[in-house]
Amino acid sequence: MCGIVGAVRESDTSGFLLEGLRRLEYRGYDSAGVVVINQSGRLERARTVGKVKELERALTQTPLAGTTGLAHTRWATHGGVSETNAHPHICNGTLALVCNGIVENHEALRHSQQEAGLAFTSQTDTEVVVHQVYLHLQNGLDLADAVRATMDELAGSFALAVVHAGEPGRLVAARQGPPLLLGRAEKESFVASDINALLPATRRYQVLENGDVADIRGASCAIKDSGGSPVERVIHTSTQSGAGAELGEHRHFMQKEIHEQPRAVSDTLEDRLLGDRVLEDAFGSEAGRIFDATRQVLIIACGTSYHAGLVARHWLEYVGVPCEVEVASEYRYRRHAAREGTLVVTISQSGETADTLAALEEAKRQGVVGALVVCNVAESSLVRESDLVFMTHCGPEVGVASTKTFVSAMTGLLLLALVLSRRHGFDSGFEAHVVHQIRTLPGALEAALAMEDAIAEMAQVFSDKEHALFLGRGAHFPIAMEGALKLKEISYIHAEAYPAGELKHGPLALVDEKMPVVAVAPNDLLIEKLKSNLEEVRARRGRLYLFADPASGLESREDVTVLHVAPVDSAIAPIIYTVPLQLLSYHVALIKGTDVDKPRNLAKSVTVE
Ligand code: G6P
Repeated sequence: MCGIVGAVRESDTSGFLLEGLRRLEYRGYDSAGVVVINQSGRLERARTVGKVKELERALTQTPLAGTTGLAHTRWATHGGVSETNAHPHICNGTLALVCNGIVENHEALRHSQQEAGLAFTSQTDTEVVVHQVYLHLQNGLDLADAVRATMDELAGSFALAVVHAGEPGRLVAARQGPPLLLGRAEKESFVASDINALLPATRRYQVLENGDVADIRGASCAIKDSGGSPVERVIHTSTQSGAGAELGEHRHFMQKEIHEQPRAVSDTLEDRLLGDRVLEDAFGSEAGRIFDATRQVLIIACGTSYHAGLVARHWLEYVGVPCEVEVASEYRYRRHAAREGTLVVTISQSGETADTLAALEEAKRQGVVGALVVCNVAESSLVRESDLVFMTHCGPEVGVASTKTFVSAMTGLLLLALVLSRRHGFDSGFEAHVVHQIRTLPGALEAALAMEDAIAEMAQVFSDKEHALFLGRGAHFPIAMEGALKLKEISYIHAEAYPAGELKHGPLALVDEKMPVVAVAPNDLLIEKLKSNLEEVRARRGRLYLFADPASGLESREDVTVLHVAPVDSAIAPIIYTVPLQLLSYHVALIKGTDVDKPRNLAKSVTVE
């Protein structure tokens, strides 16, 4: 899964390509590369291992210049992280190609290409694609036809762009799966995996559909669909801000984004509440009709967004709406019994997660009354594929570990539960009570952020640990899962979450004085049960680190460290108790000196399955 960008410009394109890579780096940062066709009609390429800034450094020392070019930022799938595996891949010194996705039949193709005498310089699945296009060119096909013929031979899911040294001013792009956009300007054309990479040059863009091949020559662009027929794709004008996110006074984007949460939630709530009611239109103009037909909810998501879904299940079932929550990569390949009246809800910060998109498609195939997405990126694939949209208004989230979008997505899902509660016999008094609590969210989030210094001190204990357990009950079990995920992601400490009542069925065997056990303890109906579970840990000499409501009766002792969280209503408690766990993982990572915003091996948006 990777980011690709390309351009046919009137003047040098290397600056645009590099800026495009910076904006696409959230898709992978194992290695990066760029190729241009230079003035003498030769391919010039630079590739580096590591983040885009490494490529930038290399290009400062040895600049490339050309009006037509491609660039790529990689998240390794086939073939390790190395310069030779970095894209663009070149065949015969004349044909260069970048690809995002996975070619499933690469081994068979590699075999036949080796037999045809082609040499390989990488272990990637992509190199077979450039070779295959080359073989078709050798057989007399034109570049666009060679790409089409190659596409027809590839199995898998990919988006690609290719240039030929003999044809400066021309670029061919194709999509079979991951998104690929064409940027259109008066005298120039561009391709990119997302709109952000295009914005420095143009706001006008087209979305390639699956099977499309686009043949770009300067400003003109001919698109053919999967059947080979010429097609017009709508030209959209982006309204997205062209500005990249700024770090400001903060040390890391993650820290900045944690501190932006009160603002992100209040922006997300703006125009969604009227007095003590939720405005149904917040979900789209078709919301009333679709919600009337909804008998149950199927939530599909990945990673942190999946955890938001698990919290939402508690809210939805509380108001009488049957709800299932599925990890997208599992759902898409599982056989399911269709359930009548299903509203499918996808949750995704990026709106581009490949598994979530495929799972949505599968859910629609089963038959649903409508598809709602809770998303932070307006011009994204999931938004395009959904009937109803609830946008979280967080602004760009740069840190790979999601924070403000998790909290804002949960807020949106709580509003959804309220809108559906009206249809399940809950009166306006119930809605008014919860809306009142929702309005306190920004202030309550501020109060939780004020715990930062105490949490930074607590973090010292964790920095030399190899394992940690996170506990919660009810709607706070998913919060414990999210806390464990955060610690894993950014500080590389193995952390597992358990529903506290499940400890005695296995994980208690792990507990000793070296095992820190973190628990979230709001003052809800399960607090006494949770306290018993915590005693089970103490009895095995486990060390407890608790985020607890002052009324819980939990206080610090020799083997227990308690940080009190200002009292909050149980309707919003999962949102608030998220914050101390985010801060804990951030401060542990700071002490460990890891790359907080770009943890090893991960990417912000996973656009391959
Ligand atoms: C990646 C990110 C996670 C994120 C997940 C789902 O794995 O590293 O932070 O939660 O994708 O992303 P989405 O954009 O669909 O919410």
